[in-house]
Amino acid sequence: MKKVILIIMLLFVTGCNKEVKKEVTYKEKITIKIGEEVPSLEDYITSDYCESCTIEWTNIELEDNKVYVANTYEGILKIGNKDVSVNLEVIDDEAPSINNIKDITITAGDKVDLLKDITATDNSKDEIDLSISEDSVYDINKAGTYNIEVIAKDSSDNSAKETFKLIVKEKVIPKEEVVDIPNVPDVDLSGTTTKGYQINRIDGIYYINGILIANKTYALPSTYNPGGLRSEFMTAFNKMKEAAKADGVTITIISGYRSYSYQKALYDGYVKTYGKAMTDTFSARPGNSEHQSGLAADLNRIDDNFGNTKEGKWLDLNASKYGFILRYPKGKQSITGYKYEPWHFRYIGDEATNLYQNGEWTTLEEYLGIDSKYQS
Ligand code: DAL
Ligand code: ZN
Repeated sequence: MKKVILIIMLLFVTGCNKEVKKEVTYKEKITIKIGEEVPSLEDYITSDYCESCTIEWTNIELEDNKVYVANTYEGILKIGNKDVSVNLEVIDDEAPSINNIKDITITAGDKVDLLKDITATDNSKDEIDLSISEDSVYDINKAGTYNIEVIAKDSSDNSAKETFKLIVKEKVIPKEEVVDIPNVPDVDLSGTTTKGYQINRIDGIYYINGILIANKTYALPSTYNPGGLRSEFMTAFNKMKEAAKADGVTITIISGYRSYSYQKALYDGYVKTYGKAMTDTFSARPGNSEHQSGLAADLNRIDDNFGNTKEGKWLDLNASKYGFILRYPKGKQSITGYKYEPWHFRYIGDEATNLYQNGEWTTLEEYLGIDSKYQS
């Protein structure tokens, strides 16, 4: 009897084995590195039996049967008339490389695009994000040697860093060549604006609706020196910088406070190169610059295209929430007196949100009902 049971069990086990051999087994997922060949059907099938099997991938771009975009792709494995889904994970763990890194030398006040000649190459075909790290502290208006760190990041967050030096040379203006600018006329412009605000002059500084004004009409005294960017500016700026960082955007100050004499040297230098009429469209005369107030700064890049960059767009959209205004918006030159400056932000406090509505900037001049014009 025992023998009979044993034989039946053996037959049963052998029979099962035959069934298992016919069953098609497969891998649900295969992981490869970017640039490797897409696995074949045979790589997915783990059984030695698969009748009329095929595999089809959706949304996969192949170059010489290789994949260059990191992603998880879905495929349909057809086993006879049964469809099952399989995945191909393509990973990228290689950092991009940064090319053309070299030191840059400028004269204080020169415009410079730090990323102009730098390029990045990578194993992936995705766009590489090149940026200047927020640890790179520099001032294009102040002589010195600054370490600039460039970061290249690919879409899989692999990043590379390279450092170069930005050498800012002192601007030397021979005394006899300094253009004489008419001194700020000492006329008291106190009164009422066309919008009905009081213009107050306290210690020679004009305030309208509590906002310090420095433009072509309202100048600051040459002796006015807050000693750097003011604490209210810095507190709000640091908050904004943190918020930007959380959104993956790096904001840096590249030119903050400028003294009256520094602005004079800067303006005079520009006049020598560009002439007075043109210089007046982009540089304030000494006494007329907001940079002297300690409440304005140039951020990230002095570049007409800055407004189209990730950082420029973020600032345009978010600066007002932190009390900052884009002081010289596009198309408002006849009102502000200056060409579009996507990098120049002025701190005015809570009222900033009134000047940015539906993606459009109102100028401080329009908001308060004042002019920005030189007397001569
Ligand atoms: N570029 C701005 C107008 C200044 O010089 O203050
Ligand atoms: Zn500026």
